[in-house]
Amino acid sequence: MLGRAPEEQVYFPPELVPAVSHPLVRELGPEGVRHILVQRLYQYLHFTTELESVAVLPVTLSLSRGQDDLRLAPAMRQDAFKITTDEAWHAQFSHDLMAQVAAETGVPLQLGESSFIRRLEGIRADMEADLRAIQSLVFCIVSETLISAILSDLPQDRRLPRAVRELVRDHSEDEGKHHAYFRSVLSHFWHSLSAGQRRQLGPWLPELVFTFLEPDYRAIAGSLLAAGLTGAQAEAVLAESYPAASVRASVAEASRTTVRYFAEVGALDDPGTLEAFHAAGLTAGLAL
Ligand SMILES: [Fe+2]
Ligand SMILES: [Fe+2]
Repeated sequence: MLGRAPEEQVYFPPELVPAVSHPLVRELGPEGVRHILVQRLYQYLHFTTELESVAVLPVTLSLSRGQDDLRLAPAMRQDAFKITTDEAWHAQFSHDLMAQVAAETGVPLQLGESSFIRRLEGIRADMEADLRAIQSLVFCIVSETLISAILSDLPQDRRLPRAVRELVRDHSEDEGKHHAYFRSVLSHFWHSLSAGQRRQLGPWLPELVFTFLEPDYRAIAGSLLAAGLTGAQAEAVLAESYPAASVRASVAEASRTTVRYFAEVGALDDPGTLEAFHAAGLTAGLAL
């Protein structure tokens, strides 16, 4: 089903995996690089399955069932059921493809807990008590209004196996529809909050954006070790390949639309919130 692999085939675009251009990784030779790229594909597919299961499906089901204060029209509740079906399918097909790639490549699956899960738990523990109940909805809105570089770039990349391109294309088409839906949910949601809740929640938004978009350093380190680097080498590769400034720039780029939507509903009118977005480097693309 994955088709034969031509010589130039890659399982993930190397340009989206800065670690593979590092000299220590290049010294591992083509087999080491291939191993890391296959692991990166696993990480993406695993992240997708986990994101849908942990962060998206519970929220879309609860929107479908009207368990919120958003006063959504009946048609929007029906749409939430359709989105739930889409998201369950994304989780299933990502999980499925992972098994197929593992069978085809022989690269062992090495899956830990995706870092966003621990990070969300940390945010929840630190959040003001009356924000905890809405954390899941906000994170879902953030993740559903972002279009990651992976969703936009991979379907066009002919070096990838066709099954990978088609999976990401299908997902990307669905997410285009969900994007419009969650933009509208954001507007309902923001207006359902009290002024105090908006002020408290606003400064958490940049952290939620980073939780979704920041590379999973622990997972990348795991694949570097498995490819043959020592612990010290893996640490050096991570530090040099993912400098904070370039991570922030790519997060800012990928989140531009989401940040604009939050600005449109008035979230950034609050000085504390605006300051948090500035500090995180997320306001560069906004005309404020
Ligand atoms: Fe999805
Ligand atoms: Fe979605």
